[in-house]
Amino acid sequence: MVKICCIGAGYVGGPTMAVIALKCPKIEVAVVDISVPRIKAWNSDQLPIYEPGLDEVVKQCRGKNLFFSTEVEKHVSEADIVFVSVNTPTKTRGLGAGKAADLTYWESAARMIADVSKSDKIVVEKSTVPVKTAEAIEKILTHNSKGINFQILSNPEFLAEGTAIKDLFKPDRVLIGGRETPEGLKAVKALKDVYAHWVPEENILTTNLWSAELSKLAANAFLAQRISSVNAMSALCEATGADVSQVSYAVGTDSRIGPKFLNASVGFGGSCFQKDILNLVYICECNGLPEVAEYWKQVIKINDHQKTRFVNRVVASMFNTVANKKVAILGFAFKKDTGDTRETPAIDVCKGLLGDKARLSIYDPQVTEDQIQRDLTMNKFDWDHPLHLQPMSPTTVKQVSVVWDAYEATKDAHAVCILTEWDEFKTLDFQKIYDNMQKPAFIFDGRNIINVDKLREIGFIMYSIGKPLDAWLKDMPAVA
Ligand code: NAI
Repeated sequence: MVKICCIGAGYVGGPTMAVIALKCPKIEVAVVDISVPRIKAWNSDQLPIYEPGLDEVVKQCRGKNLFFSTEVEKHVSEADIVFVSVNTPTKTRGLGAGKAADLTYWESAARMIADVSKSDKIVVEKSTVPVKTAEAIEKILTHNSKGINFQILSNPEFLAEGTAIKDLFKPDRVLIGGRETPEGLKAVKALKDVYAHWVPEENILTTNLWSAELSKLAANAFLAQRISSVNAMSALCEATGADVSQVSYAVGTDSRIGPKFLNASVGFGGSCFQKDILNLVYICECNGLPEVAEYWKQVIKINDHQKTRFVNRVVASMFNTVANKKVAILGFAFKKDTGDTRETPAIDVCKGLLGDKARLSIYDPQVTEDQIQRDLTMNKFDWDHPLHLQPMSPTTVKQVSVVWDAYEATKDAHAVCILTEWDEFKTLDFQKIYDNMQKPAFIFDGRNIINVDKLREIGFIMYSIGKPLDAWLKDMPAVA
């Protein structure tokens, strides 16, 4: 029986391995992590991450051919294929600080693999890493190998949170990069055979190691670039009276462009886009390509600008001050159908409003109060470290309350900001919300999910990103 071990039981390691276990009943899969609470949660009824469809998959395989464990070394030493899906945070100190990937966790995982291995292994890079990481890892492994043969493969993960299970069941493609030597090709085939249990062969792409590594960074940069492009247009729409939804529909019907990823919003978030672009920027700089680096940097700058613009719209509309006003925040996760708040635009928007002394009442169906307080007090990039290494939240932000109901959040509020596109927000009783708010009552829809005309009829002053402005907002500055 082939044995797989995955180091890192996070948003990637957990779901990907659960799906491999489900689709390959004859393969034994162990997912290991140094975080005891995380593994405990994977072994309980309350999984550590929320992902539609994940519970069912885990329930079907757990205890049969899928195991979650903290016995990292034991499972690594027994495995034929070791996936590494650990955190790859942005460096906050030293060379490349603020841009380069911090490969501390990756390197320590590689050294541990070398230490405990007694048989040949295929080591698979699942984490997103800078180009040529595989080569560095290969050096660590071969210099510590005691005669054991290690083959390194790059197999970047393209799943999107919120649709991870769907994406894993039917991936657009699986990408496997490896050495173009006989041993390398053999290892590629072994991993291909795993995916071939359910992925059509033509959707399994094989490349050299660096192409695979770079393709992942490039794919995320392209996706984020589309969002920044439409967000840049949204600012122009507001200034000219065009409607961004109409513009993006018209643009997206061009088959060369396509309709996906063209929704204007308060900005992109998630653990990957910003981090991977910063990484790409750093790699370009290191390779003497400052113009290319500058080009990709703009994608992040527009994203930051979009969040600032949103906060400024809120403050400017409300007589240039939100001091002591209750503002309801609907949605904190970086997108719907996930509880993940890493790099969510809600953090910057909330911090911006708090900077203007607002009182916030936050509701998100999947995010806990503890997480929100941590996010609002944590330093930039600290979130991407294993839980036990993250700073404890020493203080709570007093002007923030977290409630478990949208009606409670909006009661007596002066304004509502919609920051995540949860479906349940579309069907709220806005008449009831209006009746219980201070007047004038404002709604700032950062996701363009509610019907502007209907809400104006109720009496709200409405702002929707990239839509023609209310007369109220017209002469107010959007950017500080
Ligand atoms: P995560 O933070 O949820 O999980 C990483 C896990 O690795 C943590 O539970 C941590 O405790 C564990 N870990 C760290 N060092 C370890 C060690 N030496 N031994 C055992 N466990 C260790 O991160 P996530 O989101 O799963 O991401 C992992 C990688 O995959 C990152 O490189 C990320 O950029 C990439 N990725 C993430 C995607 C996403 O949607 N979240 C999508 C595609 C790639």
